[in-house]
Amino acid sequence: MLLDVKDLHAHLRTRWGTVKAVDGVSFSIEAGETLGLVGESGSGKTMTALSLLRLLPEPAGRIVNGQVLLDGEDLVAKSEREMRRIRGRRISMILQDPQTSLNPVFNVGNQIVEALRVHLGRRANGLWKRAEEALRRVKVAAPQERLRSFPHQMSGGMKQRVVGAIALASEPKLLIADEPTTALDVTIQLQYLMLLKDVQARMGLGMLFITHDFGIVARMCDRVAVMYAGRIVESGPVREIFKAPRHPYTAALMASVPRMEARVHRLPSIDGQPPALHRLPGGCRFAPRCSYVDERCRLEYPPAVAIGRSHAAACWKVAP
Ligand SMILES: Nc1ncnc2c1ncn2[C@@H]1O[C@H](COP(=O)(O)OP(=O)(O)O)[C@@H](O)[C@H]1O
Ligand code: SF4
Ligand SMILES: [Mg+2]
Repeated sequence: MLLDVKDLHAHLRTRWGTVKAVDGVSFSIEAGETLGLVGESGSGKTMTALSLLRLLPEPAGRIVNGQVLLDGEDLVAKSEREMRRIRGRRISMILQDPQTSLNPVFNVGNQIVEALRVHLGRRANGLWKRAEEALRRVKVAAPQERLRSFPHQMSGGMKQRVVGAIALASEPKLLIADEPTTALDVTIQLQYLMLLKDVQARMGLGMLFITHDFGIVARMCDRVAVMYAGRIVESGPVREIFKAPRHPYTAALMASVPRMEARVHRLPSIDGQPPALHRLPGGCRFAPRCSYVDERCRLEYPPAVAIGRSHAAACWKVAP
């Protein structure tokens, strides 16, 4: 198993109290596999990703429990120095907004070369040539000329490709993509997704693909984990869950997503709001918005029920 996350808990201290952003999350990713992490805004997806890299906001954020096993090694137990050797080498991350990932004062070539140096060492040769290959890998036209461009001279889609080139330059084993196309317009979005999928397959990368959009999950992912209020409420093979979602939240989320082809940017909308993560209700966290709720739901958190071999849902109404 490439990545095995076990009972991960990450808290953030805020002036409203402790936010349990990641509240007992478990999932795994094999080499070459894409796991979608899907849920509404504020459900803890980004904090989960940042926990894997040990990059939670300082000093508010802290991993309080659990394991993050990368090839069997627990990253939670690593020193900061060891983590620096892992980030950008064995695990890379693509963020939502390319603006925050690129440095405006350096040209693209220098930024890729810098990433390659981290990976290959200070004295490595032929880095400019390799940077050109990195751009070619993400299908940037005329890569030689592009290396000399600055971020402000590029479109949003092109910048996100450069971010992809930097993330992939070190040939990581795991790529985390956190809503990587949210800032792009629809046509460019689709191109970028197909590009990522293609590169992922060619490099045999494990990928954690974060999105609020089930339409994107259908295109990109092998398996999906649905997150609600800090916990995973359903997980399983994409095809199975699309055919028959078992958790009422999964079903609501799927129903709220318009078809990708006909879409303008729109967040899924389900009646009501997710609970505040510093003031969680007892019992099932979806209860205030669920049409199937009964007394027990409000009292006790439902255990995850296995439905078949690799499908599970945490809901009192789900029978195995
Ligand atoms: N820097 C921060 N300090 C304190 N709380 C934060 C910070 N960033 C996010 N949070 C809180 O953590 C929770 C999970 O956020 P996040 O992981 O960003 O959600 P998602 O990525 O699913 O939209 C939210 O309740 C959010 O308000
Ligand atoms: S446990 Fe109850 S409230 Fe929660 S999703 Fe299932 S039916 Fe709805
Ligand atoms: Mg997020």
